[in-house]
Amino acid sequence: MWDPTPDKDAAAAVGEVLRSIGYDEAAIEDRLGEDGISAEGSEALAYAVRLEADELGEAIRLLLLSRPVPSSSFAAAEELLRLGLATEDGSLLVPRARIVPTEDVYLTFDTFSSGASDPPGWVASFTPTAYWLASLTLRRHVERALDIGTGNGVHALLAARHADHVVATDVNPRALAFTQISAALNGMTNIETRLGSLFEPVAGETFGLITCNAPYVISPKARWQYRDGGLPGDELSRIVVTNAAAHLEEDGFASVMVSWLAASEDEPDERVREWLAGNGCDAWILAVDGSDPLDHAAGWNDHLASDPAAFAEALEEWTAYFAQLGAGWISEGGVVMHRRPGDSHVIRAIDVDEDELEFASDQLERAFRALAEVARDGDGVLDRTLRLVEETRFDQELDRTGGVMSTTLVLDEGTCSTWELSTETAAVLVALDGASTLEQAVARVARREELSKREAAELRQEAHDLALELVEVGVLDLL
Ligand SMILES: C[S@@+](CC[C@H](N)C(=O)[O-])C[C@H]1O[C@@H](n2cnc3c(N)ncnc32)[C@H](O)[C@@H]1O
Repeated sequence: MWDPTPDKDAAAAVGEVLRSIGYDEAAIEDRLGEDGISAEGSEALAYAVRLEADELGEAIRLLLLSRPVPSSSFAAAEELLRLGLATEDGSLLVPRARIVPTEDVYLTFDTFSSGASDPPGWVASFTPTAYWLASLTLRRHVERALDIGTGNGVHALLAARHADHVVATDVNPRALAFTQISAALNGMTNIETRLGSLFEPVAGETFGLITCNAPYVISPKARWQYRDGGLPGDELSRIVVTNAAAHLEEDGFASVMVSWLAASEDEPDERVREWLAGNGCDAWILAVDGSDPLDHAAGWNDHLASDPAAFAEALEEWTAYFAQLGAGWISEGGVVMHRRPGDSHVIRAIDVDEDELEFASDQLERAFRALAEVARDGDGVLDRTLRLVEETRFDQELDRTGGVMSTTLVLDEGTCSTWELSTETAAVLVALDGASTLEQAVARVARREELSKREAAELRQEAHDLALELVEVGVLDLL
């Protein structure tokens, strides 16, 4: 397997050429449409055929779609060869890696996956789990940030925009070479790479931000470094969660993508709650995906689907492994932790739909400020004046006579969560105008709707439970 050469001057020169020709997300969308940037396989081939052969078109063909182009068409061809990201075949430049503009930075990583034959140290692109983690990371200034299992370096690069210094670690030297090249492509000089397992390279150090998209797939196999942690059950995830908390500075945030086991779907988060208990952090648990052992095995063995015998054998082996672990449910998702002083901390499970998740930094900032207040005052926080945050709206469905069939509260950012509401509860939230407490809002609605005492008490309870949840999710501001 080839290794990238982290020649910083060569990478800086490639980055300069890419910026000068306007190789960015908007230009790619302009040429290929919205889905072009994530095209793979035959789709990528079709896009490559369609592209104009000007300087930008050839760069997209070479670096995004991974097709050979004439060496003369790319001004930094020599530097690309020096980095090892391409080889030469006669007059053609043949890509070995891709460079893709992602969230306004250039990232480099191995070319398209060939499925089961990818080598163990293969370095993946900006994957869905990487997107989830980027979405669930707080973007405030910190002095020191840490990214564990950095892979192509994406979270280190995104952190480098709001951290003075970033430490990026991995057990895979190829990943660290890609990270160094990515940093230099973007002219970033504040990323330090360290080789080693999990938190070993940062023993005794603390950070204001920690990110980790762990190789968290729970499986009987340790086939690929980027996904298989190689430890039994969910042990790797436990190590990541407990050590992330231990390596946080006061007021620091950690966001990690992990997975955890449960006996059944009924109480899916018990183990993460145990890992979090007494660790000095308020926390959110966000199960992005949950499945039983068979679905889990089928999903992660998709690369074997064209070989029915191998696929069936893998399903058998994996489900036997989960049976042996006593696990009937596997969750994959994020854990966000905020370290702060005090003995009492709040852990909140958040429903999230993977297709809806957007960048949640502002929501996290609000929610964790509120969690600290809930830890101190309990539901006494609801005696304060409250107001729905600006990024919310109500959606209503009406029948043909204009009668309200359903009302939904929608958060328009971050987790993009939704809540189905009764008409009265919606009216209470509307009445939280920034000058009223929950009690006052409930009383006003009960009066206006002429509710009986029992109905008013029911509304008070319903509104109380919902309001506390909305506070803890960063949707209702405590004034
Ligand atoms: C799921 S990938 C995430 C890569 C990148 N951070 C991202 O989000 O796209 C997991 C990464 O962890 C690395 N890794 C695997 N085992 C590790 C270990 N014990 N310690 C540190 N990193 C490890 C892999 O090499 C891989 O780069």
